[in-house]
Amino acid sequence: MANIIDGNKISQVIRNEIKEETERFKIDTGIVPGLAVMLVGDDPASKIYVKRKENACKEVGFYSREYKLPAETDEKTVLSMIDELNRDPEIHGILVQLPLPGHIHSAHIIEAIDPAKDVDGFHPVNIGRLLTGRPCHMACTPKGIMELLDRSGIPIEGKEAVIVGRSNIVGKPLFLMLLARNATVTVCHTKTKDLAEVTRRADILVAAAGKAEMIRGEMVREGAVVIDVGINRLDDGRLVGDVAFSEASPRSSFITPVPGGVGPMTIAMLLRNTLDAARRSRKDP
Ligand code: GUN
Repeated sequence: MANIIDGNKISQVIRNEIKEETERFKIDTGIVPGLAVMLVGDDPASKIYVKRKENACKEVGFYSREYKLPAETDEKTVLSMIDELNRDPEIHGILVQLPLPGHIHSAHIIEAIDPAKDVDGFHPVNIGRLLTGRPCHMACTPKGIMELLDRSGIPIEGKEAVIVGRSNIVGKPLFLMLLARNATVTVCHTKTKDLAEVTRRADILVAAAGKAEMIRGEMVREGAVVIDVGINRLDDGRLVGDVAFSEASPRSSFITPVPGGVGPMTIAMLLRNTLDAARRSRKDP
């Protein structure tokens, strides 16, 4: 039977660490790490995530500023706000919650953020630095997955890692992070021919496709580590991951639950990136 990786617990440990580091940083420098969070429109899930981010900032002693804009806000307005935040010395991190309303191009928004303040790690400069092994802000969800693996004592070097899903937010950056740690990484997607044949090779299997319970028990190798990034609401109201948990857990050595696995780690890593951004703001670029 699998060990359950408790994301709530690990995230709390990290948030306590960040809180202590922040107290010390404030005493040493007089700087309060500041995060600006922008929400455009009223997507219910996004509202919840943004609220959680604000609360997490308060808990560790950051300064946080929220911008809630109506769905009709035009791209130019958002871009000019980002321009101001880029120049605002109280703000070290800028987060624009995705997805954005259809008339706003998320690529334009992401590329307008100063890479030093891009605590989401989505800017092409940060992605390029990740690709070439240079210091950078890394996307929070995949960074949180790496933390979960490390803090659970799961070795990565030389392992077969299989990621299902190739999003810019999770699949692609996670591919780079696992590769940098010397895993052999395969990325699967909707056009992958025999998905089960590939997932069964995985020592570390990451499901990040956004499709409810698509990873069935027989797709999991005996003893694999299973990381479930999915959050899907079923018609009956149940919240499930991309992994059929009851089928996969008896075969796996470690598995993350949904909720309470990967989800809480994303916010912990956002705090980590914001504190790092505040630290780096004191140094020459
Ligand atoms: N929407 C879903 N995940 C994320 C994330 O990590 N950052 C932002 N900005 N939006 C998201």
